[in-house]
Amino acid sequence: MDQFRIHGPCRVSGRVEAAGAKNAALPEMAAALLTEEPVELRGLPRLRDIRTMARLLGHLGVEAAERPDGVELHGGGEVSSDDAPYELVKTMRASVLVLGPLLARLGRARVSLPGGCAIGVRPIDQHLAGLEALGATVELQHGYVTAHAARLRGGRFRFDLRTVGGTENLLMAATLARGTTVLENCAREPEIVDLARLLTAMGARVEGAGGDRITIQGVDRLGGASHRVIPDRIEAGTYLLAAATTGGALDVAGAVAADLAPLLEKLAAAGCEVSPYDGGVRLQRDGELRRCDVSTAPHPGFPTDLQAQFMVMMTQARGVSTLRETVFENRFQHVPELARMGADIQLDERTARITGPTPLPLSAARVMATDLRASASLVLAGLAATGETVVERIYHLDRGYERMELKLQALDARVEREAA
Ligand code: EPZ
Repeated sequence: MDQFRIHGPCRVSGRVEAAGAKNAALPEMAAALLTEEPVELRGLPRLRDIRTMARLLGHLGVEAAERPDGVELHGGGEVSSDDAPYELVKTMRASVLVLGPLLARLGRARVSLPGGCAIGVRPIDQHLAGLEALGATVELQHGYVTAHAARLRGGRFRFDLRTVGGTENLLMAATLARGTTVLENCAREPEIVDLARLLTAMGARVEGAGGDRITIQGVDRLGGASHRVIPDRIEAGTYLLAAATTGGALDVAGAVAADLAPLLEKLAAAGCEVSPYDGGVRLQRDGELRRCDVSTAPHPGFPTDLQAQFMVMMTQARGVSTLRETVFENRFQHVPELARMGADIQLDERTARITGPTPLPLSAARVMATDLRASASLVLAGLAATGETVVERIYHLDRGYERMELKLQALDARVEREAA
């Protein structure tokens, strides 16, 4: 298992380019199942999760091919299997996104239940209730979901809660249903808007993506398309937070300010100079960091995927900050590791109270990553720390960040990847 050896402190400065968005690419790859024509996706990031999805699609009979511009998917061939096995699904929850497309295209699907992960139970009850509202018969047997529908029929479904994956699964399934589907209380993430762009290019009739009501007029078939995936706002936000935490001056090319508004507001409130421009966002932090109070929420709220990284910045801010995690029930895995580095963080259920500034590391400088974004927060802590920090098990990091050590080295940071 690889690890990072980080020598701090450093000032993350220079220019970095945001890669394609993992959380747009994954549903868009699954959308290739909706047509027998080739679907070409450009600008996909070189990430472990993308390769996992390509392997799953290959298992289902849709071939993917590497391209110079990242991983491009020439898929849509004959779908030969309706079965997403546990050994593939257990490594990546997003595998459940093949459920809706398989059901819409083949009339049947058998997908392993994703199981929980480090950040929570993460059920898919909303996905299943939505598919039943479209006329599917859904059964749970031996850890698998099996779903059947001769042909899905348009219907009206209101999500009990804002779910990104649930919205994406139902959106994809409804494109081939007979009649009109109205989905209410939908998630509004930019990645859903980008998925709707791809589906529309394939011939789907979708209105309202990005709002809480999406209307889909079902069609009989979808065609191929060529589509460039949007930049990754969470990767971009992570680098902006690295510069803010370490007092650097950074230009993140590709960052879309509108998609990062909640973060940019908090960065400015914390004392950073934030300058969006056409094509990216610049950030500079010279003075002291000020405390902030943040509560995560579904888009357009503060993204839960930046909560851990923001917490690291607050350990360097003067005063007591609070961070409330409202989306996942267990997304403070990074707190014990940050505390071992000397951070002063008190947990009370879903709220963390961070008192700063605390120099890092006061003590142990060997920390272990548990989930994708917690890993990123430990790297940021290592960059701010004085001395050497080793972050173990960074395979989590490789799931969502393209060769992070190379990008950080280009930004004046001393980070080495080592085989442990
Ligand atoms: C997506 O996960 C993202 N992953 C996550 O990013 C992100 O944290 C999350 O949305 C929230 O923004 C991808 O897009 C591949 P949800 P998803 O369904 O779709 C509960 C990362 O770091 N829920 O919006 O799985 C669920 O338990 C990853 O890149 C139900 O109760 O998230 C959670 O508490 C981590 N029933 C909340 O809703 C359901 O049927 C939000 O989950 C579905 C969800």
